[in-house]
Amino acid sequence: MKTALITGITGQDGSYLAEFLLDKGYKVYGLRRRTATENDSNIKHIKHEIEFISGDLSDLSSLIEAVKIAQPDEVYNLAAQSFVADSWMQPIFTGQVTALGVTNMLEAVRQVKLDSRFYQASSSEMFGKVVETPQNETTPFYPRSPYGVAKVYGHWITVNYRESFDMYACSGILFNHESPRRGFEFVTRKITDGVAKIKLGLQNELRLGNLEAKRDWGFAGDYVKAMWLMLQQEVPDDYVIATGETHTVKDFIEIAFQYVGLDWRNHVVQDPKFIRPAEVDLLLGDSSKAKDKLGWQPTVSFEQLVQMMVEHDLQRLGNGL
Ligand code: NAP
Ligand code: GDD
Repeated sequence: MKTALITGITGQDGSYLAEFLLDKGYKVYGLRRRTATENDSNIKHIKHEIEFISGDLSDLSSLIEAVKIAQPDEVYNLAAQSFVADSWMQPIFTGQVTALGVTNMLEAVRQVKLDSRFYQASSSEMFGKVVETPQNETTPFYPRSPYGVAKVYGHWITVNYRESFDMYACSGILFNHESPRRGFEFVTRKITDGVAKIKLGLQNELRLGNLEAKRDWGFAGDYVKAMWLMLQQEVPDDYVIATGETHTVKDFIEIAFQYVGLDWRNHVVQDPKFIRPAEVDLLLGDSSKAKDKLGWQPTVSFEQLVQMMVEHDLQRLGNGL
């Protein structure tokens, strides 16, 4: 039986990855920070199968202890302050967790169990003000937010530990991926939750920022498989994971409203409060390396993703949850 340690287990990706690894027969340990109230909605259904370890990415001693307890074959470092908009409000905290937190996790592995395979959750946000389209593994980074800058650090420190200490360490440069478990502040979930509330008569308007931004949106369930595949190769490497399609926020809105038979123009209001100090205008990934070397490709289309999320929020709110 293989053993995995997942940081960020309560998040969207952590929950899908835990499910995926449990299905494969892994023993799964999840690093979890202390919270005053329960935040286990994504993992409620599997929490009896997971061994939780208390820890925080900014606290090296807790990470060392976690690696000592879990003795993992594979470490998936998914924890981060992951909301781009908040990274301008909390730039130092974002750096401490999303950047230096990666060094803490790498250091814990290096000191306690050097042969653990390590996955770092890198991001297409590193491409920022893109210098070429589509973006692939050789596209230079030009981050546009404190979050993006922190992820660039996390990416390079992972490469550096691989090259310095011969660690099996990989970075997955994942483009946006969404699901019914997405946090409510991200634009896709904000839209599908809003559409469901409007349809059910619980609210009338949806306030959003830049509707012209383009993203390469895929389904989170597909993307966690790619993380696992990266750690099963002979040689550690970095991979772009994306669908190869890009859509505007407006496209997402249109499909979501159409699904419930409403015209978005009657409900969407643009609010300058949600415009960012610097924007990433366009992301479009080229994941041919992952296709060739990992045999990975996405299975859920853009339309299916939007509909899956709206349908989930309609059901959830319809059941009063
Ligand atoms: P998410 O839902 O926001 O989950 C983040 C997780 O990190 C949560 O479990 C959170 O715990 C945990 N966390 C935050 N700060 C922590 C700290 N100081 N110590 C320990 N745990 C901490 O994010 P996600 O969408 O699943 O994304 C997973 C990873 O992939 C993140 O690193 C993200 O930056 C990266 N990524 C995501 C995407 C995407 O489109 N989803 C794309 C590229 C890269 P709490 O529940 O306690 O807050
Ligand atoms: N959140 C949010 N809220 N975004 C809005 C809104 C709004 O009301 N209105 C427009 N947008 C636009 C943002 O300006 C951005 O261009 C786009 O919608 C997507 O925003 P988010 O869903 O917050 O995601 P993100 O692209 O900034 O970041 C996500 O993807 C990254 C990968 O590229 C996060 O998951 C990051 O953690 C991840 O690394």
